[in-house]
Amino acid sequence: MMFSTYEAKKFTLPKVEGISEKTMTEHIGLYEGYVKNFNAISKALEELMSDPEKNAHAVSELIRRRSFEFGGMRLHEHYFPQFEGGSTPLTPSGPLAKALAKDAGSVETVVKAVRATGAMRGPGWSLLYYDPEAKKFLVGFTGEQHQGHFVTLPIVLALDVWEHAYILDYGAAGKGKYIEAFFKALNWDVIEKRFGSVTV
Ligand SMILES: [Fe+2]
Repeated sequence: MMFSTYEAKKFTLPKVEGISEKTMTEHIGLYEGYVKNFNAISKALEELMSDPEKNAHAVSELIRRRSFEFGGMRLHEHYFPQFEGGSTPLTPSGPLAKALAKDAGSVETVVKAVRATGAMRGPGWSLLYYDPEAKKFLVGFTGEQHQGHFVTLPIVLALDVWEHAYILDYGAAGKGKYIEAFFKALNWDVIEKRFGSVTV
């Protein structure tokens, strides 16, 4: 259905070193808010679309807002599972490590680029995409969550750098420390699986 609704997912998060339970709980609450708002907009559009000419301004605004809410929903559905199962290093001999090394010289080069992109000013997401057509990795930044994406490319790693991800634990100037904690806590098996699913 064109204006269908979604259900919020559940995440099984371990105790994450460097990111407090309070931050995670509040953050999941924000995620659920995106799902709720996406659904509310979908329902409103369903009604407004019965007379799109009369409701042109409202429809125009809501169509745009809907992709903002969807981005918030889907990116957080990439974010939280990256902690599930606990901190796990990337297997050096695995397909992802090999592909990263082939494309960028080393895994470290790519991680450094994702970290530097996340450290840029302003809220948003630092994202590692994979282009299965060109067999290349791309590092990008989406301001908010719905604009600036490399269209059609799957996301293999998603680093949330909105203040809500770290302000409770590290303060407004603590983005760098949070990014450090994020990479320490990351379960690379999840990233490896995502990569596997877009290369078949
Ligand atoms: Fe977030």
